[in-house]
Amino acid sequence: MEDIYSIPRYRQVTSPNDSLEALQTPGEQNALLSPEGVIERLAQGEPVQYIAGFEYFCGEKFNVGSGVLIPRPETEELVNKIVAEAKYHSDLNAPNAPDKKLVVLDLCTGSGCIAWSLWKGLPNAKIFGCDISDAVLQYARNQHITRTDQEDKPVFFKQDILSNEYAEELQNLKGKVDILVSNPPYIAESEKKLMHKNVLEFEPSTALFVTDDNPLLFYKRISELGRELLSPFGKIYLEINPLFASELKQHFEQTGYSQVHLLQDITGKQRFAVARR
Ligand SMILES: C[S@@+](CC[C@H](N)C(=O)[O-])C[C@H]1O[C@@H](n2cnc3c(N)ncnc32)[C@H](O)[C@@H]1O
Repeated sequence: MEDIYSIPRYRQVTSPNDSLEALQTPGEQNALLSPEGVIERLAQGEPVQYIAGFEYFCGEKFNVGSGVLIPRPETEELVNKIVAEAKYHSDLNAPNAPDKKLVVLDLCTGSGCIAWSLWKGLPNAKIFGCDISDAVLQYARNQHITRTDQEDKPVFFKQDILSNEYAEELQNLKGKVDILVSNPPYIAESEKKLMHKNVLEFEPSTALFVTDDNPLLFYKRISELGRELLSPFGKIYLEINPLFASELKQHFEQTGYSQVHLLQDITGKQRFAVARR
């Protein structure tokens, strides 16, 4: 009610019997969304974020719509870890260039929630994000995130990360990425039976699912890409599927990464992996 009809929460208490029209500020009637229409969409299982058109992430409003994954709270934890480490540990910067701008690449950027939140949290970074979908990139490019200065906004480009053909932006990042971050599709098809209709019928399946016979598809590719893209002091930060956490750790260790750590989310699940080149 607050977001769609601009009715402050206190008015529900102070004017419980007023009609919707009476409660709305004149001039702010939302002609596009009738209350009956909203209730019908909610009853069909559509996520409220698609109806309101946004979700909060790291304190900012991110526009979302059909085809764009709704940002999740776990992913905020990943962003917060990166910001804390990059701010307070200088080990990501080459010793001979301590003031160099950090280069960050967000693979499978979706709404751009990770890229923009890192832009906000790390003023001394140059941020890139890529995704396979043009529709999704439109959202990422047009988020309105505020920072005291508006300089050096994230650059978003189209890239299928499973392909060997590289966009020009990716070519140019070879050997330069200090922080490679990704929350790629990682839910196995067999997990669908445990999931709610809100997600299964409304959120994009290309953003969520991998086949049961290759659940680490995206992570194996990210490990290859990391070897090409990371700078000598670079680090990878991943959101992962807790079901395949130890397999993933083993894969990164076997493919030449050091200091591979699994980290828990606030619910105690092994939800993140960090590795150093
Ligand atoms: C789990 S969503 C994550 C979105 C966003 N980073 C977040 O955390 O909310 C995965 C994203 O990967 C993108 N994607 C799927 N396959 C891809 C591919 N082969 N190459 C690049 N992006 C891909 C989807 O379009 C989707 O936006």
